[in-house]
Amino acid sequence: MTQERWTAVDDYLTGALVPSDAALEAALDASDAAALPREAVSPTQGKLLHLLARSIGAKNILEIGTLGGYSTIWLARALPTGGRLVTLEANATHAEVARSNIANAGLADIVTLHQGPALDSLATLAGPFDMIFIDADKPSNPAYLEWAVKLSRPGTLIIGDNVVRDGAVTDPTSADPKVQGVRRFIELIAENPRLDATALQTVGSKGYDGFVLALVT
Ligand code: SAH
Ligand code: DHB
Ligand code: MG
Repeated sequence: MTQERWTAVDDYLTGALVPSDAALEAALDASDAAALPREAVSPTQGKLLHLLARSIGAKNILEIGTLGGYSTIWLARALPTGGRLVTLEANATHAEVARSNIANAGLADIVTLHQGPALDSLATLAGPFDMIFIDADKPSNPAYLEWAVKLSRPGTLIIGDNVVRDGAVTDPTSADPKVQGVRRFIELIAENPRLDATALQTVGSKGYDGFVLALVT
């Protein structure tokens, strides 16, 4: 199986199930124009996050790692009237592009973007959040998990992106700090008696990766 085939299937599924949307496409175009890294979730993944948020009736969502706001828009659109999303982004250029994309999607009043290192912003937030999406610098995932649990309640759904990393996650001796961060993250989830979790490998237009899902009990 090849990347070409995974992308073709993602394109097919997206065409069938994920209606094209001007604000989401504009967010990706503006992100490319500003030379942001192409690390946003794929359309099918964005819709998965959106459907999960709707399924649990999330009213307050926390996102760690905004980039250009693509996943932010998917998640914020899952909120009912009065719902709120807080998103954290360290990079000033990414934050500026995201603010503009979020405003263009009509979500400026629903989304609060804190620009600065997530660990600084997290210390200022009041929970609980109903859903928390962890998708920033992977070496900090263990610290983000600790905050996520602090800012949760029983029933909160915590999701982490990029936990497979082309399969590198299985290597305990990896010299890649992203792999080490993800491995410690998975271990801490497994060890925490308040968390009930699973993880899924994914292939598609973003290659071979995966998500971890943990329910706070
Ligand atoms: N969730 C986005 C993708 C995020 S990419 C989407 O799917 O559309 C990861 C982002 O985390 C990048 O924009 C990067 O600048 C940001 N980041 C890296 N280190 C960070 C930190 N310490 N605090 C907050 N954001 C950080
Ligand atoms: C990376 C980060 C992401 O959030 C992503 O979705 C893909 C790759 C990275 O840091 O390599
Ligand atoms: Mg990611």
